[in-house]
Amino acid sequence: MVAIDGLAKSFRDRKRGEVRAVDGVSFECRPGEIFGLLGPNGAGKTTLTRMLATILQPTAGSAQVAGYDIRREPEEVRRHLGYLTGSAALYERLTAREVVTYFAELHGLSPKRAANRIEAVFRTLDIEPFADRRCDRLSTGQRQRVSIARAIVHEPPVLLFDEPTSGLDVLSARGVVRFIRQCRDEGRTVIFSTHIMSEVEALCDRIAVIYQGKIAAIGTVDELREQTGERAFENVFLRLIGEEL
Ligand SMILES: Nc1ncnc2c1ncn2[C@@H]1O[C@H](COP(=O)(O)OP(=O)(O)OP(=O)(O)O)[C@@H](O)[C@H]1O
Ligand SMILES: [Mg+2]
Repeated sequence: MVAIDGLAKSFRDRKRGEVRAVDGVSFECRPGEIFGLLGPNGAGKTTLTRMLATILQPTAGSAQVAGYDIRREPEEVRRHLGYLTGSAALYERLTAREVVTYFAELHGLSPKRAANRIEAVFRTLDIEPFADRRCDRLSTGQRQRVSIARAIVHEPPVLLFDEPTSGLDVLSARGVVRFIRQCRDEGRTVIFSTHIMSEVEALCDRIAVIYQGKIAAIGTVDELREQTGERAFENVFLRLIGEEL
C-alpha cells in the first residue's frame, strides 16, 4: 500500500548549512496495518509525511502510495491519501459542516454521496453536536476532529496522520485512537507519527523508530523489546536511538 525507497530531503539552512531532515528512509506498509513513526522532535517525521503527501519534493529516493508514484502521479496520490497535519488551517468563518462539504466537493464527490459520507464521518468522530458552529468558535479537540473529517471525507485507502493526538485530552485522544483502529479494521493503511510511547504500544502493528532523519529500527513492539532487552517502551526507544538509560 505504501512503499518507500531511499527517500531523502535536505534543506539549505543559512546557519546550519545542509540539513539532512530525512536521510535515506525505506520501509513498506500493508493494507490493514497501523504503522507508527516514532521519533523525537526534529527527527524528520513531518518532513517525511509531507513528502508522502506530495507537498514537498524529495531530494532523492522514491515512494509509492496505493501504487502511485509521489513524483510522477501526485494527483493520484492525493486522491488515495488522507493527510492530517498539525498545522492544517480550517476556514475560520465557515462551519465544520461547510468546511468538510467543501473538501468533499474538491475531491469530486457528488452532493448526495458527500452528504451521506459527512453524516457517517460526523457520527464516528462525534462532530454532530458542533457541526453547525463556526470553526473559530471550536476548541482544540473539536477542531482536530474536524481536521480528521476533512482529511478522510473521500474515503482514501491510505491515511497519513502527523501527530493526530497532539493537544488533545485523554478522552479526545481515545476517540482518535478508536477511530484509527476502525480504519485499520476497514482494511486501510494507517501511518501516524508520534512521540508518545503509550500510543505506539497500544496501537501500532509495526513501528519505525526515526532519529536524525534515519530509521534506527523497525518491527513490532515485541520485536523491538527483544532487540533491546528492555521492557518499558520508553527504555526500548532510548536504547534504539543510542541514549544512555
Ligand atoms: N523548511 C525547512 N528549512 C530548514 N530546515 C528544516 C525545514 N523543515 C524542517 N527542517 C529541519 O529538518 C529537521 C526535521 O524536521 P521535522 O519537522 O521533519 O521533524 P519532526 O520529527 O516532525 O519534529 P517534531 O516532533 O518537532 O514535529 C529539523 O532539524 C528541522 O529543523
Ligand atoms: Mg513534526
